Amino acid sequence: TRTPVNVTVTGAAGQIGYALLFRIASGHLLGPDVPVRLRLLEIPQAVKAAEGTAMELDDCAFPLLSGIDITDDAKTAFDGVNIALLVGARPRTKGMERGDLLEANGGIFKPQGEAINAGAADDVRVLVVGNPANTNALIAQQHAPDVPAERFTAMTRLDHNRALSQLAKKLGVTVSDIKKLTIWGNHSATQYPDLFHAEVNGQNAAQAVNDQEWLENTFIPTVAKRGAAIIEARGASSAASAANAAIDHVYSWVNGTPEGDWTSAAVVSDGSYGVPEGLISSFPVVSKDGRYEIVQGLEIDDFSRARIDASVAELVEERDAVRALGLI
Ligand code: NAI
Repeated sequence: TRTPVNVTVTGAAGQIGYALLFRIASGHLLGPDVPVRLRLLEIPQAVKAAEGTAMELDDCAFPLLSGIDITDDAKTAFDGVNIALLVGARPRTKGMERGDLLEANGGIFKPQGEAINAGAADDVRVLVVGNPANTNALIAQQHAPDVPAERFTAMTRLDHNRALSQLAKKLGVTVSDIKKLTIWGNHSATQYPDLFHAEVNGQNAAQAVNDQEWLENTFIPTVAKRGAAIIEARGASSAASAANAAIDHVYSWVNGTPEGDWTSAAVVSDGSYGVPEGLISSFPVVSKDGRYEIVQGLEIDDFSRARIDASVAELVEERDAVRALGLI
């Protein structure tokens, strides 16, 4: 039998945690033959709720789940971790300025980065879901100097999946007919969902749509503001779809992306496409041999250039703000 993979989930008692843990334990994160050991990290006030979720996990009798530990201590949570899903974050509350938000999250992601640096397994892979995800990932990564920088990623797979679904609806095709869609930049309202390199049954997606007005005034804003639309409709933010995207992100990372396609993930920039080196920005990526690599050589027209630059400028601002706060 295989040794279990250690998967740590922070914010385990939250909404996304509740949708995520059962799918990890049932084999969707890594594959149907990989046993997992779960570590749940929560703040002290939420440990009891996490224990309740753990009771339900027990009650599922998942054959692949080889154990659950619950803790409020980051060092314990990340000791020996192979896959770290950083979901817990400080939400923006009324009257909170961006600086306050970044500072509060720095207080979470700095110690978590340090704990990963101190105790994680050599093959650790980190996905940050908690917002502002790209910058939280940057903070954690900067405090884990012994871990290769490319092991820190942030989630734009939900945006990617949302874009797939909107495009499929528009063209009356299924999501599996669509390849090579890209989310560029920040996981925020400035993100740029790019159809110009996407293919629908082998045809260029932008040409298949042939409607620049729809692309600019419906598609892009619908994808970028979908989170707000879900809150408006459901009275709570996306949880099951966010958990599903986290599963997709890690599954693709570990098991590879299909030949002839790519996906989107926020990864450390190597300067590709003019994105400043070191920023954690969303790119078209393929995964091979357990590594995400940025797809190279795409031609970027003026429309796409302006959209990518605007989102990247926001990431630069966030990085400069956390620098000014002494968080990195
Ligand atoms: P939630 O508020 O239901 O749960 C968050 C949990 O994190 C709470 O149980 C809280 O106790 C815990 N937590 C807070 N600080 C912690 C710490 N230092 N260590 C461990 N746990 C801690 O929130 P929900 O709905 O589960 O969302 C989680 C995060 O994911 C939010 O930041 C949200 O904005 C973000 N998100 C990101 C998406 C993306 O596409 N990247 C999509 C949807 C949500």
